[in-house]
Amino acid sequence: MPAVGGIPTGPGKEYPGNLTPYVLVTCVVAAMGGLIFGYDIGISGGVTSMDPFLRKFFPKVYRSKHDDTSTNQYCQYNSETLTMFTSSLYLAALLSSLVASTVTRKLGRKSSMLLGGLLFFAGALLNGFAQAVWMLIVGRILLGFGIGFANQSVPLYLSETAPYKYRGALNIGFQLSITVGILIANVLNYFFAKIDGGWGWRLSLGGAIVPAIILTAGSLFLPDTPNSLIERGNMEDAREKLKRIRGLENVDEEFDDLVMASELSKKVEHPWRNLLQRKYRPHMAVATLIPFFQQFTGINAIMFYAPVLFNTIGFGDNASLMSSVITGLVNVIATLVSIYGVDKWGRRFLFLEGGAQMLICQIIVAACIGAKFGINGNPGELPNWYAIVVVLFICIYVAAFAWSWGPLGWLVPSEVFPLEIRSAAQSINVSVNMVFTFLVAQIFLNMLCLLKFGLFLFFAFFVVVMTIYIYYFLPETKNIPIEEMNQVWRSHWFWAKFMTEEFSNGNVEMLKGGQALKNV
Ligand code: BGC
Repeated sequence: MPAVGGIPTGPGKEYPGNLTPYVLVTCVVAAMGGLIFGYDIGISGGVTSMDPFLRKFFPKVYRSKHDDTSTNQYCQYNSETLTMFTSSLYLAALLSSLVASTVTRKLGRKSSMLLGGLLFFAGALLNGFAQAVWMLIVGRILLGFGIGFANQSVPLYLSETAPYKYRGALNIGFQLSITVGILIANVLNYFFAKIDGGWGWRLSLGGAIVPAIILTAGSLFLPDTPNSLIERGNMEDAREKLKRIRGLENVDEEFDDLVMASELSKKVEHPWRNLLQRKYRPHMAVATLIPFFQQFTGINAIMFYAPVLFNTIGFGDNASLMSSVITGLVNVIATLVSIYGVDKWGRRFLFLEGGAQMLICQIIVAACIGAKFGINGNPGELPNWYAIVVVLFICIYVAAFAWSWGPLGWLVPSEVFPLEIRSAAQSINVSVNMVFTFLVAQIFLNMLCLLKFGLFLFFAFFVVVMTIYIYYFLPETKNIPIEEMNQVWRSHWFWAKFMTEEFSNGNVEMLKGGQALKNV
């Protein structure tokens, strides 16, 4: 029986290919798609804590925030209208990522990126100039549509463009730009909140047009991926693009294999219905469990509500905003660690280490908050060192997420799906991610009020479950060319039984006489 999650030992492919400046620039521009997502994650929490914004659009929330005299700190921010503003966008993203599947497959990856940029641009404009609540809501919906398109197409684009040995690092460019977007948003909120006249929120919301322009302009100049060009029948163009991307004249082996993968995928008439077939169980497990678990690490409790949370544990307003800038910085720096290590140490190592580290931090944070706030949420005087210890462990937790589930939650799904289901399965990945982002955003403040410090143990429980899933069920995918990925499932102790028959037969038939046969 093959080792749990080990790298398959059979004859692996070694396509030549360099990390050319061309591919580097291409990937950097594409990864900008993450900026629009990150900017939004970071901006909404800050804006909803700005009084002029609340007064204008949510006067009820504003009044209750200021009239609230309760001493129970766990419950002071519990307001559904506010969370709805933050989380509605993720519902729109969920819907559009499903539509994006078809656009990405039929019109190419860059068309989806272009659409994503344009929709996001429109949403940002509407929000920046909002005069009434409906403008805010429609704006949020447009932003959500944009994010659905970008998150569906950018990770695929990166994984298909990168030479496989650097695929992990280049793909994580997406997550890096998410974290940079969050940080920029946190810093801008901090300054814009201080603008006299109270219109700083317009700049915060309208500022989203900058990442939108970068993505829109970028996607006009980017080449489409060879995989996608072949899928749409543009053979010669695809070969030229592959040469250009790899920086080599002879790309025949990889090109032939891409063509073959595409031929195989053309046999599939209904990519959606197809997903239900037995041989795609391991892929469906990845497409649904990875995003589900990513959100149940509890990361967005911190990303959306850090200022609120830090306020709750006794920081003043300014200190709270500053602390969220600090966690934002940790988030960016720790992502760099993962870029460095993902193709060296592998995905599994990062997942397992990150899981253990998050678990320890969550238990410590729960214990700290429980010890001071108890059940009634009334801590009395809090010593300085106390808040520092809590922030420290929250930072260590954010670092763990940022080099494990953060980037890998986008990387692993984008690299394990075979071409014939890639676009559809990636849409499932994005939709599941958005559903649970929505849910966590929507229920977090309620749950804090209900579960109190136990909320951190609730997320800790899921961290245990997801770490077990990784250990037993997720094979290592580092250094495996993307169109060769099936071999990792075929040699997996559990998933092999789902793959064998149909898959190998299908392949052998299709590949008869072809290059890839020697690897089947
Ligand atoms: C997740 C987001 C999260 C962000 C934090 C992303 O990978 O999908 O939900 O807010 O990481 O950096």
